[in-house]
Amino acid sequence: MGVVDDIKERLDIVEVISSYLPLQKSGRNFKALCPFHSEKTPSFYVFPDSQHWHCFGGCAEGGDVFSFVMKHQGWDFRTALEELARRAGVELRPVTPDQVERKEHLDQLRAALEEAVRYYHTLLLHAPEAETVRAYVARRGLTPETVQVFQLGYSLPGWDGLRAYLTGKGFTLTDLIDAGLLIEREDGTTYDRFRDRVMIPIRDARGQPIGFGARTLDPDGVPKYLNSPQTALFDKRRNLYGLDLAGRAIRDEDRAVIVEGYMDVMQAYQAGFRNVVAQMGTALTEHQVRHLQRYTRHFVLALDPDAAGVQATLRGLEVVRETLAREGEPVFDPRGLVGYEGRLGAEIRILSLPQGHDPDVLIKSDPERWAALVAEAAPVIGFMFQRLLAQSNPDDPKERAEIVKRMLPLLRDVPDPVEREAHAQQIARALGVQERTLMAQLHQAERQSAHRRQGVTGLAAAPPEQRAALQADLEGYFLQVLFRYPPMLRQVNDAFEEMGLAPVRFDDFDDPVDRALFEAWEAVLWEDEYPSVGRLWERVADTLFERLQAILSFADDWANERWAREGIRAALYIRKRNLKRRGLELQSLMEEAEWADVGASMNENAQTLRYVEQALARRWSAT
Ligand code: UTP
Ligand code: MN
Repeated sequence: MGVVDDIKERLDIVEVISSYLPLQKSGRNFKALCPFHSEKTPSFYVFPDSQHWHCFGGCAEGGDVFSFVMKHQGWDFRTALEELARRAGVELRPVTPDQVERKEHLDQLRAALEEAVRYYHTLLLHAPEAETVRAYVARRGLTPETVQVFQLGYSLPGWDGLRAYLTGKGFTLTDLIDAGLLIEREDGTTYDRFRDRVMIPIRDARGQPIGFGARTLDPDGVPKYLNSPQTALFDKRRNLYGLDLAGRAIRDEDRAVIVEGYMDVMQAYQAGFRNVVAQMGTALTEHQVRHLQRYTRHFVLALDPDAAGVQATLRGLEVVRETLAREGEPVFDPRGLVGYEGRLGAEIRILSLPQGHDPDVLIKSDPERWAALVAEAAPVIGFMFQRLLAQSNPDDPKERAEIVKRMLPLLRDVPDPVEREAHAQQIARALGVQERTLMAQLHQAERQSAHRRQGVTGLAAAPPEQRAALQADLEGYFLQVLFRYPPMLRQVNDAFEEMGLAPVRFDDFDDPVDRALFEAWEAVLWEDEYPSVGRLWERVADTLFERLQAILSFADDWANERWAREGIRAALYIRKRNLKRRGLELQSLMEEAEWADVGASMNENAQTLRYVEQALARRWSAT
């Protein structure tokens, strides 16, 4: 993973942008008056799920966290890289004094948290005040060994126990505030954030402490869990509780079980189920899914049986599907999962708990039952179908058609053809539709995607090891084609115009390095009499050298006509990817019914996506 990805992994675009302008929450997303053009009603949106921003007003422009700071602060790529890396605590080489300072600061926060873990843990074990807590922990069925493994602790009811202890160890108040351990009052005085609670240390995947979850002992206490605030180290949307202990087991068992809460993870661990992580109460985020994907592609989502829990799971599920589906598109799958032919490339199962059972309670009372439930967790397809059936009226032909429509992509995800047929049969039967009709629709959808797949002849012709690199790297591939043949960009744009599509521009590129390279190339094309890659080398910052080198090392030797086709096709795929993401973002605006024009934008977006898909089918499947 490159340094840019590393930075993006660690930064939340919402947090970064809100440090420059006030963001207003709008359902799942955030909005603001666009900083780049003048307007009276907000049309600037930030999407936490996709980690992108977009202005739907005058600018009609968007991008990621890099493009935002570059545009907003007028920074060049190098400055943006340095600033964001510093902010994210990512090391760039060579290291500047500022960066050293930042790293030392983070280390200091970690050290403070580690001391706090020890302090709370010792209190839980030995403090006379913690008698009821020890009883509570025992009543919850946690053994001393589990308390030890998870380093559970207790925070005293007073206002400054931790502060006194840690300042005594030499930590500054600023460090303790930054670590989320102290709260600063208006008048500058401070007090312990966590008081009279069971302390649950939260660690990152490497096992370093990043924050706490703190449970009240009062059955009516609100909030039940007080968590660390977002800090330079902690973001509950970006971490999974228990991953430091579970990572290995997830890899070994090639399966991750995702539960909701701290208690569930601890009970599971204690009972010997080690591949369990918790999403800490929030809906599963794309970021978390991506993280888990480094360990496995088999996910079991353990459902909270109440309605809200089901909704949260479904939302999480959408995230998983979207994340993986985008990666799993056949041509560009870097893992060589072509066998799946565009299918999900991951298996998602849903564990349905009996009514009134938390995983934590069930595991404690009946671990075998839990093991069985995990083993029997149903493929998502059956689960979704049951939900859809329950939510709609299958007697209404319109709703029936809608159910079928929603089920088709899930059916396509089933890798085994026999299994797929069986599911299709079941669905047809339950809905009272002709099985043949359903299968025809399914096959049609498959033919369409197969068509598109065959269209990618250039990529398929590359030697295998090179193909893997190219497929994983659509933008790099497109840039390569552009750089090799200076008239190419014009040819692509002419073709786009003919198809009724807007010309390629910098914000088609997602990766900030690619975007910077594209902009530099445009400048070369505009300003140099004899544009060439050599001119590009002279122009770009040294921070881009590595990428440029990698892009240029893809060697292929085709006739110009062939290059043009490759270029147009790659550009279409990029556009398609972007439109899909935009569609999802718009949809998330729609759900919140926040913005009157969203319907029109969605239609427009869908329309353009159709053009792109038609263009891909029309032009590139014949040969
Ligand atoms: P639950 O309410 O299911 O808690 O919330 P739990 O883990 O089962 O805890 P017990 O069994 O009541 O002790 C699930 C998760 O949601 C987050 C926590 O991460 C919790 O583990 N949560 C819940 C909060 O962050 N704050 C809250 O106030 C409640
Ligand atoms: Mn519980």
